[in-house]
Amino acid sequence: MGEIKKIGVMTSGGDSPGMNAAIRAVVRTCAYHKIACAGIYRGFQGMIEGDFIDLDARSVKGIINKGGTFLKSARSTDFMTKEGRQKAYDALKAAEIDAIVTIGGDGTFTGALKFSQEFGFPVMGIPGTIDNDIAGTSHTLGYDTALNTVVEVIDKIRDTASSHNRLFFIEVMGRDVGHIALNVGVGAGAEEILIPEENLGLDRLLESLRRSKESGKSSSIVVVAEGDKTGKNVFELKDYVNEHLPEYDVRVSVLGHMQRGGSPSCFDRVFASRMGVKAVESLLKGKSNLMVGLLNDKIAVTPLEKAIKGQSKINKELIRVSDIMTT
Ligand code: F6P
Repeated sequence: MGEIKKIGVMTSGGDSPGMNAAIRAVVRTCAYHKIACAGIYRGFQGMIEGDFIDLDARSVKGIINKGGTFLKSARSTDFMTKEGRQKAYDALKAAEIDAIVTIGGDGTFTGALKFSQEFGFPVMGIPGTIDNDIAGTSHTLGYDTALNTVVEVIDKIRDTASSHNRLFFIEVMGRDVGHIALNVGVGAGAEEILIPEENLGLDRLLESLRRSKESGKSSSIVVVAEGDKTGKNVFELKDYVNEHLPEYDVRVSVLGHMQRGGSPSCFDRVFASRMGVKAVESLLKGKSNLMVGLLNDKIAVTPLEKAIKGQSKINKELIRVSDIMTT
């Protein structure tokens, strides 16, 4: 691997709060080590098109607190082809970019790893997604901010639920894992939490709601992960409860993409800064094909292959806490 004089940084996949802070950290660490840095717009598609912008320490001022990513993100079917990846390689070489830091989820890392293996091109990954569904790190960038955003919203919904003695089904993001649902369910004091990792069935849900009613609870919150496996979406769950527990006045709230926005929490800003430094300095030490992450509160690196193939496990102790809290 030749000397690294210029590093590219890009964001890809679903955006998450903290991505701008991570871009800032990569750019500032390059400046600290007196090497050049280029922003790559729109992920792999922008890489193919050579859509780059030179960035220096001043280019990234005032963005640490901004949600989203100023480099944009985009899905790229072209990059799934060898021709597309060859165009991307040629564009990087033409711009004298010697290595890249990709900020994204497992889909991003899959593409980056294949690219690195095909062209021997140095790559480092920073896990950026609100889902927290990547092995090799206790947190992904944006997850902490999303938890706080959602808890605040559920508190608001609880105000109106209790005013009208209503049951609310609230759908949260997380694609096919239940980390967001489980944590915000405990944090917001939900009566029930439905997650894909633990399909307890509809009978148990009805039984739990009956118990809540009998214990005098006049309103209830049920948090439902979008990847939940009951086989019914939140609107169908509403109809099911209306049919079997007519005494409930049921409403639904699908939170959607607002969970991906907002100013990053302090945790995510600090996490982004730490990972940006680690990613750049790993490249400068001749390392590649690694994902930076947080393990036992320490910034560590994990082979991209392991991060991609690994499973992020649901916290069983937290499930037990949730069961006890809903007594
Ligand atoms: O991966 C992040 C995420 O927000 C998931 O939680 C969600 O299922 C998905 O992205 C939505 O994807 P899109 O933004 O393409 O609709």
